Amino acid sequence: MGGNVILVGFMGAGKSSVGRLLARRLGRCFVETDDVITAREGRSIPEIFAERGEAHFRALEEETLRLLALKSGGVIATGGGLPCRDGHPAALRALGTVVWLRGEFDTVYERARRAGERPMLAGRDRDEIEALYRAREPYYRQADLTVDTTGVTPDQVVSDLLLALHVHQREGQS
Ligand code: S3P
Repeated sequence: MGGNVILVGFMGAGKSSVGRLLARRLGRCFVETDDVITAREGRSIPEIFAERGEAHFRALEEETLRLLALKSGGVIATGGGLPCRDGHPAALRALGTVVWLRGEFDTVYERARRAGERPMLAGRDRDEIEALYRAREPYYRQADLTVDTTGVTPDQVVSDLLLALHVHQREGQS
């Protein structure tokens, strides 16, 4: 199994919109780990956090990571915290090519705050979120490829990503 393209990055990095566009451009199916979790649980992510807490949500992510081993040839968008545990970056790389959608903190923070209900942002001030972002960077950095998203439209990110994938595949063959 394998051959997937796996998108990682902080909340607001554009994993969902870029993933959807990329899947369409490649003619592959698109899966979001958050959607797998909400479908299996029959509850939204904010409900899971509110009713069972973050630790339970992380355990569900762990299970989802194991289920993804059954998947090949897809585009997978991970929740922002999924890669950020020891062993997870390597487990993701075993599924395919991991791409970090990197964005400057200010940009992703503003995007994350604007769109969607995100329990990890609730009750934390900007400095705390920035500390979380910095703590997660070493995990994201273990991706095979990094694509910058700051000041770039999702369409352009997809084009940059396709080019980076192409070069990566050619390097892998030589
Ligand atoms: C989380 C990010 C969310 C979701 C959950 C926890 C995180 O996904 O998995 O709310 O810990 O960063 P997005 O990165 O798609 O917002």
